[in-house]
Amino acid sequence: DWTMGTYREEAIAKIREQVGTEKVICGLSGGVDSSVAAVLIHEAIGDQLTCVFVDHGLMRLGEGEEVVRLFRDHYNIPLVHVEAQDLFIGALEGVDDPEVKRKTIGRLFIDVFEAEAKKIGGAAFLAQGTLYPDVIESVSFSGGPSVTIKSHHNVGGLPERMNMRLVEPLRELFKDEVRLLGKELGLPEAFVGRHPFPGPGLAIRCPGIITREKLEALRKADAIYLDEIRQAGLYDTIWQAFAVILPVKTVGVMGDGRTYDHVCALRAVTSVDGMTADFYPFDMAFLGRVATRIINEVKGINRVTYDITSKPPGTIEWE
Ligand code: XMP
Repeated sequence: DWTMGTYREEAIAKIREQVGTEKVICGLSGGVDSSVAAVLIHEAIGDQLTCVFVDHGLMRLGEGEEVVRLFRDHYNIPLVHVEAQDLFIGALEGVDDPEVKRKTIGRLFIDVFEAEAKKIGGAAFLAQGTLYPDVIESVSFSGGPSVTIKSHHNVGGLPERMNMRLVEPLRELFKDEVRLLGKELGLPEAFVGRHPFPGPGLAIRCPGIITREKLEALRKADAIYLDEIRQAGLYDTIWQAFAVILPVKTVGVMGDGRTYDHVCALRAVTSVDGMTADFYPFDMAFLGRVATRIINEVKGINRVTYDITSKPPGTIEWE
């Protein structure tokens, strides 16, 4: 009889065997996967583990503080908080290609992890919360030809040159199993129930060129949208919901003036594993409420659309 309790014990034994007495750096993204990986590895090897949370300036509103609070204060797991906003946003300047965004972010993550590894006298391993669907989707699309759709990886496409070996204790699991494991490890219910969030963060929710102004508007719109989803009691029914800021400006009218601002697209899907997904059929009153709030409260956005594409043929993220 196979249970998460058994998985936990086996995974801990495997981590100990793989790592020996070496040090491990775990990149925390704020998402469920890397958090579960971190807590599991911490159980296995204790203070041989150092968690590193890199704030790349592409996090959602308030996300950085939440992660730090959970790990440092609630779990008492040592956490290095790297403020790398300028580094990442600077490197992404002028970049509009989604794969170049992923590769740029992946390379910088590795640079930061390697620098942190050096500070603790060297770490032989880098831990990540890679799941089974990440492994499949970076190689081929289910049922389709063997082409890379997106260089999915928890850090957004790992560069070939990396001095650390990988520890990926969740590689065989699907999202629902990771959530069960998270509960088994005592992570708060609300935390394991969080929607997935991609490693490259808001960079891939800002199609086209990324600017600080667009990121700021996107963060606010996204927070309003999720706030309304929670208030409507829909958060747990939806697999993933988020706002996207489009590289298109349209004309609007506000008060007695003309506006010329960005379009915001809202996305919400249901799914079991992220490999296929259906758009969520909100009622129009809900969407109208969210649109009104976003346009009234967010500077730089004057139009809201709802994405009714399922996966396939769309993907969940826009990039
Ligand atoms: P797509 O957009 O391919 O996404 O349908 C499926 C799931 O994977 C997430 N995703 C990523 N996660 N790095 C990640 O860590 C990435 O580069 C990446 N791209 C997409 C996406 O949010 C969804 O949950």
